[in-house]
Amino acid sequence: MKKVYVDNSSTSFPKAPGVSDVIKEFIDNVGCNVNRGGYKDSFDVGLEIVRARQLISDMFHVADPQEVVFTPSVTYSLNMLLQGYLKKGDHIITTSMEHNSVMRPLHALFQRGITYDIARCNNDGSLETDSITPLIRNETKAIIMLHASNVCGTVMPIEEVAELCHKNGHKLIVDAAQTAGILDIDASKIDALAFTGHKGLLGAQGIGGFVIKKEFAKKIAAIIVGGTGSRSNMFEQPDMLPDKFESGTMNIPAILGLKKAIEYIKSVGTNQIFKKEMELTSAFLSMVHEIEGVHIIGKKDISD
Ligand SMILES: Cc1ncc(COP(=O)(O)O)c(C=O)c1O
Repeated sequence: MKKVYVDNSSTSFPKAPGVSDVIKEFIDNVGCNVNRGGYKDSFDVGLEIVRARQLISDMFHVADPQEVVFTPSVTYSLNMLLQGYLKKGDHIITTSMEHNSVMRPLHALFQRGITYDIARCNNDGSLETDSITPLIRNETKAIIMLHASNVCGTVMPIEEVAELCHKNGHKLIVDAAQTAGILDIDASKIDALAFTGHKGLLGAQGIGGFVIKKEFAKKIAAIIVGGTGSRSNMFEQPDMLPDKFESGTMNIPAILGLKKAIEYIKSVGTNQIFKKEMELTSAFLSMVHEIEGVHIIGKKDISD
């Protein structure tokens, strides 16, 4: 029987065409590291990684590919951003729809004297944007929120929240785990946007990252240091992007796979991908609606 896979919010399957081929080709026939040796293979792979950064910066409308940082996953990205930015006495606002990739770091930071408040969301998962302003304090440094809920798919008004943040001088950090590769995301007004490579971006597990404004990156301490291959004569972590946040040998096979996947997404177009997802969602909702006793959490209809 043909397999029907319905766990795409957890990780997508199948991956984009060609992803496994480039990963296998690299492991079987290339295999070298980057930024650590001066020979042709290493330079060639380094160039492919630069091209991967370029594709990601284009995808999120970010001007400079150096503002693209690779990490193992969105969970790592969110931890690096939150733990590197917030200091004792600071306050941050989040929403009641967050994944534990945000709530657990916030809870851990609370033990270190960093407080947070939670903006309300409605039963359909939508944000009550008006509930943010009363939570703002003198100590508030940022808002962190997801772009779409992993529970019910509701998309959050990040553009509206970005305006509110910038009016008040706060940073906006967005968790785009569920939307990267599916919606056209303009990160030019977002201070940092974290993504994961293995969901809508159709790459392998073990790769993710964030795009970050240079000015914001200066305010974030690197919580993992060493092993960059650059400026090896220094004890201090390099402060330039992306090296500041890319400690240790990177997951090169998965980056090359992600590059292939993004080339595929570009060739199809996020508009088409979104349209197809909405057709499937609509068919799913209309069918589960018929089942007695099923209670739908989130939007009942895609036109809502
Ligand atoms: C909204 C959201 N944030 C974060 C994550 C964590 O993703 P990863 O396991 O790739 O770090 C998920 C995964 O389901 C998610 O849906």
